[in-house]
Amino acid sequence: RKTAPMPTDILAAKGGTPLVSLTAYTTPMARMMDDHCDFVLVGDSVGMVLHGLPSTLGVTMEMMILHAKAVARGLQKAMMVVDMPFGSYEENPAQAFRNAARLMAETGAAAVKLEGGVHMADTIAFLVARGVPVMAHIGLTPQSINTLGGYKVQGRADQAAALLSDARAVADAGAFSVVLEKVPASLADRITAEVAIPTIGIGASAGCDGQILVVDDMLGLFTAFKPKFVKRYATLGEQGEAAIAAYADEVRKRSFPSEEHVFADTVPSKRSKT
Ligand code: KIV
Ligand code: NA
Repeated sequence: RKTAPMPTDILAAKGGTPLVSLTAYTTPMARMMDDHCDFVLVGDSVGMVLHGLPSTLGVTMEMMILHAKAVARGLQKAMMVVDMPFGSYEENPAQAFRNAARLMAETGAAAVKLEGGVHMADTIAFLVARGVPVMAHIGLTPQSINTLGGYKVQGRADQAAALLSDARAVADAGAFSVVLEKVPASLADRITAEVAIPTIGIGASAGCDGQILVVDDMLGLFTAFKPKFVKRYATLGEQGEAAIAAYADEVRKRSFPSEEHVFADTVPSKRSKT
């Protein structure tokens, strides 16, 4: 593939090869994943991962726009989706459209993502009818942490029917895909079988139509805590700290900078690196 898929292509991938996605917040990270991901999410997790906020509630439109612009500069082949931050869409469909249009117009995002099922269905339909492709996000919705009472598994036992209703509602409203976060694997499989839009799992099931992880989690860069659903494919945080410790040691011993990193008073004659 030479160009980025569109939301309609993501929708058409239902039931096929699993969709691959990660979050990204900066240009270099976006470049690293551009060849490997179908879509990249500029998640509001940026608030916790890069800004040290205690939850995603303090993330603003300005933060999302700044990071989405940076990510867009690093993508050519993967589609970019941007999260609508807390407070930017819940009031009514008009507020949601105003902010979704701003996110798309200012960043070049192909779609937005918002949290909520049945209660956000009207808003999703309103956006889709006006040219805004919507990825829904149900199950554990971190922007509702204060009403959910913690980052708990959602949809267990007698909660399953409500989550299934959420999935059906966002699909009927026209969402082109739905993120299922922290739900029992059996329920994720059932939702995947029953709705016609791709399910994107995070703490869900390998049977979903795609998977997403927070990139700093899977690279081992974000280590404040590790949800069970995170698999660390690298330990870059540890490697980074070891590198910084080595640098500090060399500076204190005056072994850095060494000859290869300093400049002579005269210009070297051949293959100058000055
Ligand atoms: O903000 C985020 O990173 C997300 C993904 C975990 C789905 O919403
Ligand atoms: Na998010």
